[in-house]
Amino acid sequence: MNATPPPRPVVLSGIQPSGRLTIGNYLGAIKNWLPLHAQYDCYYMLVDLHAITVRQDPKVLRERCYEFMALYIACGLDPAQNVLFVQSHVAAHARLSWVLNCYTQMGELNRMTQFKDKSAKHVDNINAGLFDYPVLMVADILLYDTAQVPVGDDQKQHLELTRDVAIRFNNIYLEQNGGQPVFRVPEPMIPPVGARIMGLQEPTAKMSKSDDAETNAVYLLDPPDVIARKIKRAVTDMDGSIRYAPVEKPGVSNLLSILSATGGESIAALEARFAGQGYGALKGATAEAVVECLKPVQARYNELREDRAGLQRVLKDGAERAALRADATLKRVHDVLGFIPQ
Ligand code: TYM
Repeated sequence: MNATPPPRPVVLSGIQPSGRLTIGNYLGAIKNWLPLHAQYDCYYMLVDLHAITVRQDPKVLRERCYEFMALYIACGLDPAQNVLFVQSHVAAHARLSWVLNCYTQMGELNRMTQFKDKSAKHVDNINAGLFDYPVLMVADILLYDTAQVPVGDDQKQHLELTRDVAIRFNNIYLEQNGGQPVFRVPEPMIPPVGARIMGLQEPTAKMSKSDDAETNAVYLLDPPDVIARKIKRAVTDMDGSIRYAPVEKPGVSNLLSILSATGGESIAALEARFAGQGYGALKGATAEAVVECLKPVQARYNELREDRAGLQRVLKDGAERAALRADATLKRVHDVLGFIPQ
């Protein structure tokens, strides 16, 4: 008799389709997603519901979703091995989010640093969605019984909230659910290097997709000469030594992180390799490593981006596969809440 293999743990992550994908998104998130399908059932989405917490131009948003999905695949996420989908295609995200609103405290959301940053940036549109954003993220994660969430360092606080809400809900409904926790409590998976890539011009703040200054970020679709120019003009310091010291030497430390995360050499090994050399050498090597790392991505992207029907098929299939798991969780939640089954 053939025993069915035990179910594999789930990995889930997502990116907001806003601005342009940067090497921060790649090194902090996407690159680390690539090998995981060997061990986990992997779900990667574009969180369009999250993106509308800031005003979006509908035409631009739609095209950007296709662009980001083509980039996911171009980076190496094979749709045959990973479930790739758009958040708004799976209705359970919004539905669970409503339920979890009733199990999250205003005080918890008030403490979220991302809300504080974004509301300071968009003073004319501090909408309830912006405040409630983390609860939707909690729903995203809990819907899939997610074990691991591979993200950059800036998402840590949202992951802590996810764990808190899951544990709270589990405690309230333990008996109702036959002594079993309703939700799996997820763990963050944060890479040892590359978890917080800083701006090239402003190395004390993280590199961002929606940065106003073009030269502060390297975008995945920047041509090689633009990448090289941006890195060569990166802000460093007057000290002249190549050492990893993020507080004292943020610019140089950031270049070391980028080079280590793209090339695979440890920061200590890079410090030894560049001992006694100038910043020009470090910048040259970093630019070369980033260009080399993005070359195959850019080559594949152009082909994929043209094939809109192909991308639509991937998304349709992805949404169907995602909904299977998400709907089962939502049903379990509705049951313990006492809702009449449909
Ligand atoms: P977002 O779209 O801001 O970023 C997507 C991913 O990229 C990582 N990241 C970085 N990593 C290193 N250095 C940087 N400078 C950098 N900038 C961004 C982020 O940590 C993230 O992993 N709320 C999330 C999206 C989301 C989500 C989810 C993620 C919604 N639901 C469920 C995981 C699971 C966000 O806005 O990411």
